Amino acid sequence: MKTIIEPFRIKAVEPIKFTTETERNHILQEAGYNPFLIKAEDIIIDLLTDSGTSAMSAKQWAGIMDGDESYAGSRSFYRFEEMVRLITGMKFIIPTHQGRAAEKILFSIVGEHGKVIPNNTHFDTTRANIEFAGAEAVDLLNEAGKHPEIIADFKGNMDIEKLEAFIQERGVEHIPLVMVTVTNNSGGGQPVSMQNIKDIRAVCDQYGLPLFIDACRFAENAYFIKKREQGYADRSILSICQEMFSYADGMTMSAKKDALVNIGGFLAMNNQELAMQCRNVLIVTEGFPTYGGLAGRDLEAMAQGLEEILDESYLHYRIRSVEYLGDKLLAAGVPIIEPTGGHAIYIDAKRFCQHIPSYQFPGQAVSVALYQKGGVRACEIGSVMFGKYDENQQLIPPPMELVRLAIPRRVYTQSHIDYVAEVIIEVFQNRNSLKGYQIVYEAPMLRHFTARFAPLA
Ligand code: F0G
Repeated sequence: MKTIIEPFRIKAVEPIKFTTETERNHILQEAGYNPFLIKAEDIIIDLLTDSGTSAMSAKQWAGIMDGDESYAGSRSFYRFEEMVRLITGMKFIIPTHQGRAAEKILFSIVGEHGKVIPNNTHFDTTRANIEFAGAEAVDLLNEAGKHPEIIADFKGNMDIEKLEAFIQERGVEHIPLVMVTVTNNSGGGQPVSMQNIKDIRAVCDQYGLPLFIDACRFAENAYFIKKREQGYADRSILSICQEMFSYADGMTMSAKKDALVNIGGFLAMNNQELAMQCRNVLIVTEGFPTYGGLAGRDLEAMAQGLEEILDESYLHYRIRSVEYLGDKLLAAGVPIIEPTGGHAIYIDAKRFCQHIPSYQFPGQAVSVALYQKGGVRACEIGSVMFGKYDENQQLIPPPMELVRLAIPRRVYTQSHIDYVAEVIIEVFQNRNSLKGYQIVYEAPMLRHFTARFAPLA
């Protein structure tokens, strides 16, 4: 088999500034050992997120010039609406400035004290928006999804038995909707099978509950279905996406992922009454219904991006480039979530640094070391991001301590990825010298963005 090459040529480049380890030590100290607080220009390879970091295509940039900036009824809105409708079949399509704005609108209407929303795993902004509305967010991930070392095809699946038990225990009247996140970002970018979506649908039907998809990485999920689920090998990505969304009543979307844009999102649904309520909130918080929180040009770029994401040669390269990094790390013994997911590699920091307990944030130790040794920026997804405190202010750690290396779409080449592998492997070989961290400042919500740390002696 020949090398799977990037299915594009590069027309515009952005120089990378190089730094030395001594400079990076100083930068880390200034940033309170939180990679979120490092200036982007001081990063060599930025794998903090795959969100809003895509390289746009020539056609998307052309769309930026062509965008219609009319306040109401913009042509770009109708192009965007048509594209979303083609892929999802949803009746009411509401643009927002990004995914969390869609979540905020939805949960400010359906979430309130006493309500509870199940998901395979809520992403942090989804959870935060649910909790901000006074409701509760509950994760019902299947067991395999909680074990980084178990190899399975669809580790993002929801546990259907748990979902049924949960509905019976909490009572349908307290559950405004069921959600499923494709792919399951917080659980390792693992896909959800079509069968699982159908099963969730069946449970929802039994109890009369609406199903919403958190669809940020829908095309990557569809590609996994095509490759791994029986009966889908000969189906087009578009038709797999259409089937996925046909089981849902609504969706939230961060277009910053699988719509290949730097900003954008939307909320879509079939229920007219709910859509009208959402549009009313939209007008107050985001803007008129035909632009949401966006410029006409952004809608144009989204429409074009949604068309490009369905290209199978793109998805093939995309999923393979993540797997390529995973293969290199596994060959060197680095513990990662297996199999590799759609948009990122997740280092299992618990196994990586067995000498650092959760309350000393092993994931933070790994991500700081990756920056220190190679200028690579990664993101802790463990006790810093999801840890809670009990009544005695003792940390309640989440089930996994992960470090995510999210791969921006169409941005880095194979040699960039080779370099990343070299840095991770070097840090892994010297893992026993890594030290834990303590938090010296934290905000009450989403603390990982702004927390400051100090290394432990
Ligand atoms: N849902 C999922 C599954 C996400 O991954 C994200 C964002 C959102 C919702 C919120 O979308 O950022 O446009 O407001 N994830 C980014 C990440 C931030 O790095 O994984 P947003």
